[in-house]
Amino acid sequence: MKKIRVGIVGCGAIGTSLAKAVARDFSKGARLSALYDINLKKTKDLSRVLARNIAVSKLSQLISKSDLVIEAASAKVSADIAYAALNSRRDVMVMSVGGLVGKIDKIKSLAVKMGRKVYIPSGAISGIDAVKAARMGRIKKATLTTTKNPLAFKGVKYVEDKFGSLRNIKKPLVLFSGPALKAVKYFPQNINVAAVLSLAGVGAAKTIVKIIASPKVKKNIHEINIIAEAGDIFTRTENILHPDNPKTSFLAVLSAKAVLNQILEPVKIGT
Ligand SMILES: NC(=O)c1ccc[n+]([C@@H]2O[C@H](COP(=O)([O-])OP(=O)(O)OC[C@H]3O[C@@H](n4cnc5c(N)ncnc54)[C@H](O)[C@@H]3O)[C@@H](O)[C@H]2O)c1
Repeated sequence: MKKIRVGIVGCGAIGTSLAKAVARDFSKGARLSALYDINLKKTKDLSRVLARNIAVSKLSQLISKSDLVIEAASAKVSADIAYAALNSRRDVMVMSVGGLVGKIDKIKSLAVKMGRKVYIPSGAISGIDAVKAARMGRIKKATLTTTKNPLAFKGVKYVEDKFGSLRNIKKPLVLFSGPALKAVKYFPQNINVAAVLSLAGVGAAKTIVKIIASPKVKKNIHEINIIAEAGDIFTRTENILHPDNPKTSFLAVLSAKAVLNQILEPVKIGT
């Protein structure tokens, strides 16, 4: 079987873990073909750690060397990376899902036109399998409640403008309650899960998101509440933070690995 050539954009916490996984765990079916980061030093360092000469200095070079492009960079550029990969007839996996909200229809039609696939891992959230199934019937209401330590919101402009520093809060504080469409604008680095739930369920205008800062929690906690024709769904995921980036949940990395595994395996499990 011909190995899938995998190129990774973004050599941070997720990109590094995925690059190691492709090179070491998935070497039967995949080959790590290129690495690209806006910070060239990171690209070269990771390439060196993996003992492979695969650092490139342009996105276009990465795309030309890959069958599957994995975006693990930033919500500011994830849609553009998906367009560029699809336009070159490459499949693409997107981690910065917040950047796809409002653009998914364009991405879908481009993927259809080019005959390629777009993979969006469930990320740091459980229950997307059941939401996808429920969506085949009618979903009446979809709510996501995200609770994180105040430190996770450091540098989020909306929070700093509205609440100032959260360093001294003693009790849980609701930072935001409203449609996912607005949440992804105000919390671009924190809210990939809201984007995934919206895309799998009833869309970003109808999905309700509540974001809470709580000084007692150490984990990133996501609760999904779905009221659907098929029944009610409640899930709670208590995420351990990634050792290299406390803004990223470890499960998000494993979820991307699971999608890669699904691409390579002949038997697909789950919805
Ligand atoms: N889907 C999910 O559940 C989920 C969970 C966690 C993180 N994420 C998202 O995945 C992305 C990566 O997360 P991370 O923890 O690895 O972040 P990180 O900050 O550790 O790494 C991001 C890397 O991307 C690079 N980068 C930034 N802009 C770039 C650009 N325009 N072109 C190329 N490289 C660029 C940075 O230099 C950095 O090395 C983030 O956007 C994050 O929000 C998604």
